[in-house]
Amino acid sequence: MKMLIQSRSFALLRYPMIEVAASLSQSTVCVSSTFFRRYAIRRYTVSAPLPSSTTFSTKKLKKKLRQPVMSVLEIGGTKICRDDVVKDDPTNNVPDSIFSKLGLQLHRRDQHPIGILKNAVYDYFNKNYSSEFTKFDNLCPIVSVKQNFDDVLVPADHVSRSYNDTYYIDAQTVLRCHTSAHQAELLRMGQTHFLVTGDVYRRDSIDSTHYPVFHQMEGFRVFTPDEWEQFGMDNTTYAATELKKCLEGLTRHLFGAVEMRWVDAYFPFTSPSFELEIYFQEKWMEVLGCGVVEQEILKKNGRVNNSAWAFGLGLERLAMVLFDIPDIRLFWSNDERFISQFTGGQLGVKFKPFSKFPPCYKDMSFWINDSFTENNLCEIVRGVAGDLAETVQLIDSFTNKKRITSHCYRITYRSMERSLTDEEVNQLQSNVREEVQSKLNVVLR
Ligand code: PHE
Repeated sequence: MKMLIQSRSFALLRYPMIEVAASLSQSTVCVSSTFFRRYAIRRYTVSAPLPSSTTFSTKKLKKKLRQPVMSVLEIGGTKICRDDVVKDDPTNNVPDSIFSKLGLQLHRRDQHPIGILKNAVYDYFNKNYSSEFTKFDNLCPIVSVKQNFDDVLVPADHVSRSYNDTYYIDAQTVLRCHTSAHQAELLRMGQTHFLVTGDVYRRDSIDSTHYPVFHQMEGFRVFTPDEWEQFGMDNTTYAATELKKCLEGLTRHLFGAVEMRWVDAYFPFTSPSFELEIYFQEKWMEVLGCGVVEQEILKKNGRVNNSAWAFGLGLERLAMVLFDIPDIRLFWSNDERFISQFTGGQLGVKFKPFSKFPPCYKDMSFWINDSFTENNLCEIVRGVAGDLAETVQLIDSFTNKKRITSHCYRITYRSMERSLTDEEVNQLQSNVREEVQSKLNVVLR
């Protein structure tokens, strides 16, 4: 599903309803759960296999493209094995390339742009709310379908639940696709003011602003009747007023004196719902999604007669603007020329591109079938080429007399770190073609 530039982080839960594409059977994942133990990442065996789907022919290429995959890791006290997450089972659609991102937690690196941004938001809340907000940044990204969708009232037929959009470990377990997945459990634990930062996972297209793993920060604040009564307001008006005040302040804290506007929005878990936009580089840019929390969520989780606001920030898109980072893949780079440009506590240092390596374009055409989706194609491309794939673009589509549709996709290969050789790109493209044919059952032209 192609979204407007950068808007994916908030748009997913606004999609119109469509049928759930997945037909998932039952099975369970063996993930032990001591959920809230913080700051406890431990790594065990470090193996370095190629992503399972990659079949390079020469040894040299294998070496170049090898990426480490941790086979066991621990996030916030939850031990996770590769085999718990990546399974050869029709109810599972998590590839190794996604497993390899689990536990990396860019948001917990104080020198990384995502960590610097998280800390800048923390500063704002600490200054303005005298540390009232509890911060969680180590909650396990493996959550139940109930947490991710049901608890936040996402309708049964909402597109975000589809196998095409979300990574399922099994029929009841997903990689969270938003930090809102933790709202209900934290409320039940008695939390009333909290910030949850975490990595979130969505199947999506490939371009400079979309990556299947990104980072969000959720804010949540509960109010009691005495708070709105003393101002003679009703609960919803009070929560909405407080929410807007808080987020306008946060936006000024991050961006300085920018022009802002509020736009009405829809999320299943808030009503009314809004988006905040800022005027940046001569256009309006969405900064966050938010709203007054649905009463049903509060009531079901022990907050009768209360009111609350919630917001969700997409950290990559804000960091791209604040640090001038032109491509979302750079956040995952271990290249010193990237990493060394940022310093903890310094928001808004402008990134200086160290060089722009040449792109290489490869087109491929095939007859699609009814089950073809662009996200499935992109998953294959990422599985084969990893971060060497810069964009996957539909450049031509037509339907013949027999009503069979042909698509032509252009794949741009480019490394952020070096020049790619012809041999390497040809091999990647040949592997993509092979896998597209065998896994998507399409007919290459
Ligand atoms: N969870 C929403 C998303 O990812 C963002 C959001 C959070 C909106 C909280 C409203 C309130 O799209």
